[in-house]
Amino acid sequence: MKVMTAIKDMQSEIGKQKGLGKTIGFVPTMGFLHEGHLTLLKQARKENDIVVLSIFVNPLQFGPTEDFSTYPRDFERDRALAEAEKVDFVFYPSEEEMYPHVPSVRAVVQERTDVLCGESRPGHFDGVATVLTKLFNIITPTRAYFGKKDAQQVAVVDGLITDFNFPIELIAVDIVREADGLAKSSRNVNLLQDERQQATVLFKSLQIAKKAIEHGEQSPLKLISLITDIITGGSNGQIDYVEIFSYPQLKPLEKLEGTIIIALAVKFSKVRLIDNFIIQID
Ligand code: PAJ
Repeated sequence: MKVMTAIKDMQSEIGKQKGLGKTIGFVPTMGFLHEGHLTLLKQARKENDIVVLSIFVNPLQFGPTEDFSTYPRDFERDRALAEAEKVDFVFYPSEEEMYPHVPSVRAVVQERTDVLCGESRPGHFDGVATVLTKLFNIITPTRAYFGKKDAQQVAVVDGLITDFNFPIELIAVDIVREADGLAKSSRNVNLLQDERQQATVLFKSLQIAKKAIEHGEQSPLKLISLITDIITGGSNGQIDYVEIFSYPQLKPLEKLEGTIIIALAVKFSKVRLIDNFIIQID
């Protein structure tokens, strides 16, 4: 496994591999790897000749009051985990390397960002789309792997790939959870001890909503208030949003039909957690 910190070195390695006709699977991350990231790497390993992992905590996608400075980082640990997953190249650029000057051009995401995390984190998806445009141009992957935990990000990346004509296949991978249901996240380490216990209520509320749908509940509003009550009753977390939309269009629904997403975000003292269920309604 090789660690590359310079863009030009990464590009020249990719050039060599492409010259040999190799397919490239790419897993972009912000590091502090957990089972969710490792699942993306495992799938990339199965489906491609070469696997590239990027680790870059992208300042452009954090708002001024968000957790950029406290976002967990541990490169040596990540390197060992990547090695165990048989990653070929880790792209680990500095902020200087990625943004040597104030960018003269940036991506602006116009669709599917007026709701959910796009609404509560203004500019977040522009930052994601800008860094991914750079990373896609540097790595030129055959396939790029994203987790459904960030379901809105998957929808935004789908738009980016289509609208900017990247010849990349987008692969969306199911959410990986802790034994008690909490979606794995690098940010979970910033939960206080009692909050870590309370955080299981996110998954529980989604499960109860799913059961209610199976028992015939049709009203998004009723489901939203059911979830809200469960979360506020079972934790000190502050609800940022609980929403139900069509997926991947992210449009409001009068009644449940087609593929829907139930998505939520809850703020604890130092962390904001997100989770979702994507459900096919028959
Ligand atoms: P990060 O939060 O590090 O996540 C990297 C990838 O891992 C994303 O595609 C995310 O959806 C996936 N992932 C995280 N937790 C997961 C889980 N529990 N189950 C399945 N997949 C999971 O998302 C980002 O970084 C950044 O926005 C990035 C795309 C790298 C752009 O900076």
